[in-house]
Formats: sequence, structure tokens, C-alpha cells
Amino acid sequence: MTQFKDRVFSGMQPTHTLHLGNYLGAMVNWVRMQDTHDCIYCVVDLHAITMPQDPKALAANIREVAAAYIACGIDPARSILFNQSRVHEHAELAWVFNCVARMGWLNRMTQFKEKAGKDRENAAVGLFAYPTLMAADILLYKGTHVPVGEDQKQHLELTRDIAQKFNNDFAASIAEHGFGETFFPLPEPMIQGPATRVMSLRDGTKKMSKSDPSDYARINLTDDADAIAQKVRKAKTDPEPLPSEAAGLAGRPEADNLVGIYAALRDVPREAVLAEFGGANFSTFKSALVDVAVDRLAPITGEMRRLSADPGHIDAILAEGARKASEIAAGTMDAVRRIVGFGPR
Ligand code: TYM
Repeated sequence: MTQFKDRVFSGMQPTHTLHLGNYLGAMVNWVRMQDTHDCIYCVVDLHAITMPQDPKALAANIREVAAAYIACGIDPARSILFNQSRVHEHAELAWVFNCVARMGWLNRMTQFKEKAGKDRENAAVGLFAYPTLMAADILLYKGTHVPVGEDQKQHLELTRDIAQKFNNDFAASIAEHGFGETFFPLPEPMIQGPATRVMSLRDGTKKMSKSDPSDYARINLTDDADAIAQKVRKAKTDPEPLPSEAAGLAGRPEADNLVGIYAALRDVPREAVLAEFGGANFSTFKSALVDVAVDRLAPITGEMRRLSADPGHIDAILAEGARKASEIAAGTMDAVRRIVGFGPR
């Protein structure tokens, strides 16, 4: 791995307003990693169309998600921020990976099974090939570290398998062209923090998700203080008071989830939260949770609103990010063309 420079790559789909799961599971780590790494953060609009999208809504969502990145603390002066469809090499490398990855590998992907549901025959081919595009996103930039929530772990394993197989299948050509022994790094998933899997506020056994039909299942980054308070107050709980130790959360998914959210928002371990609230009832704990959630999210919501008032500014940031991303992507794709045997463009 030493031949590869550390580089962070990650992305989110512009299919919805970002929610607390996206924020605590991934975004908090994205922001932090800017201090130590070169970072590339993408709005993955090519992935978005693997499910039907209204074109006008998609265009607005791309800007909204870009505004959310910036409002959460992604600094376009330090990190590359762009939307995927502007850099055509993503689709090009994904095609090469479609010919490297095996059907059997993709058949095992749980996200495809969940999204396609029972009607697999009617799912888009792109939905099936989704993970090869994700591998292309990361490997186009030779990304070494990928901060994501837990639900992306299987996709990251597949990315490593694709990188490894490409390196093996083309080993001779890679060496012949002077690229050394391996061309792609095997990226490390960075799944970190007390909230790598934020659960629904209505059901502690289900992931907080954009596709949950109830808006009460999630807190959106656009929710105002009243909406946050209402959703937390209505959140499902059990009748027992909070335990004073983490072991006491076993078998109590809703309590566990709310404690995890509180810990992540305050940036403290779960144990510290339980030391403070052990023995307290949920109404006390929920009031405290509303306070920290509003404290933490209100500035982000305000900044998103401010940024969204000037779409031209967001477009300019995305265009500049795409320009920088294209420079790296073109270099990798040119090398891939030679390795595969297409020759340079
Ligand atoms: P997406 O758009 O579904 O989610 C974006 C990020 O948010 C995390 N996340 C969660 N984390 C904790 N708890 C939750 N309830 C929760 N819900 C979502 C996700 O793990 C993710 O990190 N396939 C990716 C997008 C993608 C990508 C990439 C990511 C495309 N190319 C390359 C990394 C690298 C996705 O659908 O994320």
C-alpha cells in the first residue's frame, strides 16, 4: 500500500434531503478527515438514477446536497467537491469494471436485493451494476480511505475485490507499461464513531432511511427546531428508565439508538451519556436530546438555507470541483486504457 498516497473519497446520493444517519454515520468523519488527508467528496448523481427520479427534482437535489456538504463543514478550498456526472471517466471506468466483476459477486449484494424487492426482473440494469460504479468512483482517484456508514461495508469489500482482480488480471500489462506491481490500491473503509448505523426513530430495528414512508422515522438536516422536537418526542421508546451502563441497553434497540445519537451529537462515548442519564426517564432524556440536536443542527440548516438562495454560487463550486477532479480522473483513465489495450486517447 505504501506506493499509494493517502486519499479520501466518499459520496452521497442526491435522492433526498440528507438526514441524521448520513450526517452522523459519514459526514462528521468527512469533515474531520479534511485536517489530515486530501479529500474528494462527490454528489453521486449517476447512482441516483438507478431508481426513477424526476429530472427537475434531481437537479434541485444535486444543489441541495452540495449545499449540505458545505454547510456541514466541507470546505471547497481544501477538498474537491463535485457531482459525478460532470466527470465522464466515472462511467467509463465503471464499464471496464463491469467486465472485471463477476455476476456472482454482484448477486450477493444485499442492497440490490433490498432495493429491487420481489420484482427483480423489473429492476434497472444500473441498479444491479451500482457497486461497480461505486468502485470506479473510488479507484478513479486511487482512493485509499473511504468514510461511510456501516451499510456500505459490503460495497467496499466488493471494491477491494475488483481492485485486486484488475491488478491480477492485468499484472503483466501493468508492469509492461511501467506502473509497478499493482495499479489500484485496496481502499480501507472508515466506519467510525458511536453512530455508524443510526436507526429509525419509529423502529429501533430498522435503519434510518430516506425511503421510510414516515418522515417521523428520521431527522432531516432541513428540519427546524419545532420539527426536531416533535420527532424526538414522538420517537418510540420502552417503559424502563435509562440504564447506567452500556450492557443495560442490550435488547432495547430504541434506547440504544437514542443514546447513540446523543453520544454522537455531543461527541462523547455512550458510557458518558449513561453515567449522566442512568436512572432518568425518557421524557427527561428526550428534552436533553432535543437541545443537543437543535444546537448542533440549527446552524447547519441556517447555512444550507443561505447557500441555497444563491444556486449560481453552488454551480460555480461544483464546476470548479469537477475541473480538479477531471484532471486526476483523466490521468487514471488514460493509464487504464493503455493497460487494458485500448491505447491512449
Ligand atoms: P447514501 O447516499 O445511501 O448514504 C450516504 C452516506 O450515509 C451513510 N448512511 C448512514 N450511516 C449511518 N446510519 C444510517 N442510518 C445511514 N444511512 C446512510 C451511508 O453509509 C453513506 O456513507 N453507495 C453510497 C454512495 C456512494 C459512495 C461512493 C460512497 C457512491 N459512490 C463511493 C462512498 C464511496 C450510498 O448510497 O450512500
